[in-house]
Amino acid sequence: MSCFNNKVVWITGASSGIGEALTYALAKAGARLILSARNVPALEQVKQQSESKNIYILPLDLTEPDTFEVKTQEAIRAFGQVDILVHNGGISQRSYIRDTEMAVYRRIMEVDYFGYVGLTKAILPHFVKRQAGHFVVVSSVLGKLTTPMRAAYASAKHALHGFFDGLRAEYWQKNITVTMICPGYVRTQIAVNALTATGEAYNQMGKDTGGGYPADRCALQMMRAIKRKKNEVYVGKPLGKEKLALLLKRFFPGLLAKIARKAAPQ
Ligand SMILES: NC(=O)c1ccc[n+]([C@@H]2O[C@H](COP(=O)([O-])OP(=O)(O)OC[C@H]3O[C@@H](n4cnc5c(N)ncnc54)[C@H](OP(=O)(O)O)[C@@H]3O)[C@@H](O)[C@H]2O)c1
Repeated sequence: MSCFNNKVVWITGASSGIGEALTYALAKAGARLILSARNVPALEQVKQQSESKNIYILPLDLTEPDTFEVKTQEAIRAFGQVDILVHNGGISQRSYIRDTEMAVYRRIMEVDYFGYVGLTKAILPHFVKRQAGHFVVVSSVLGKLTTPMRAAYASAKHALHGFFDGLRAEYWQKNITVTMICPGYVRTQIAVNALTATGEAYNQMGKDTGGGYPADRCALQMMRAIKRKKNEVYVGKPLGKEKLALLLKRFFPGLLAKIARKAAPQ
């Protein structure tokens, strides 16, 4: 029997991409699921396409922290408990620093960082009371390094590591686990929905995301990491350039900095 059987997993950003693929894989493994995002018809469609009857739709906007307490209580009531919270909902960026409006930096931080912090604080008392809980945090390779045109996004993803490494250290004795997931390019709507310098949608798939790792395989890699309670994992193409970039960052950071310059604005 799968270790996910009957587990209650709350997934944000479940209406599309990685969250959607993870929903299908966890439903197949017997998990009970709470699906969150803003697009409710899309969530209903994901529910219908899942191999599980135990799915609860919980609309949520990560930029509305005042709702987090009420939403969290609703999530707990849905199946009586939450075992795993997958922080996955997010938005990316395609713009140079000099052009990017402050509102774009703030919006990305609100969705990709403060949304995660707020929801974590809302569910933490439940995990502490149960002396059990697992935070799965979808960061990015860009949570570990930064390339041109991604400074706002990479800042938010880097901030997640600071927060959740701290949470892991503070709560390990309460049996609370944190798994940081660092995907490389995954074929989803992330680039299409990314913000440009003025906050409009980028509306293009792009070569790297278009040729990215399939979301369903990414979901299976994530499930292996969750099962093994890993602290931090890369997911994506095993020999992709993103994996190489992570290795360079770790062992030859000066060389990676020189390579990154090539995409600098002229
Ligand atoms: N695809 C990649 O190459 C890649 C690489 C590294 C990391 N990631 C990370 O993977 C995660 C999932 O992205 P994806 O690739 O699956 O992209 P996606 O297909 O665009 O999905 C993004 C999800 O986030 C949700 N979301 C966006 N803004 C939200 C908000 N304000 N409140 C609540 N939910 C919101 C969207 O739902 P609604 O629009 O319905 O709200 C959607 O379900 C993100 O954290 C992303 O940074 C992706």
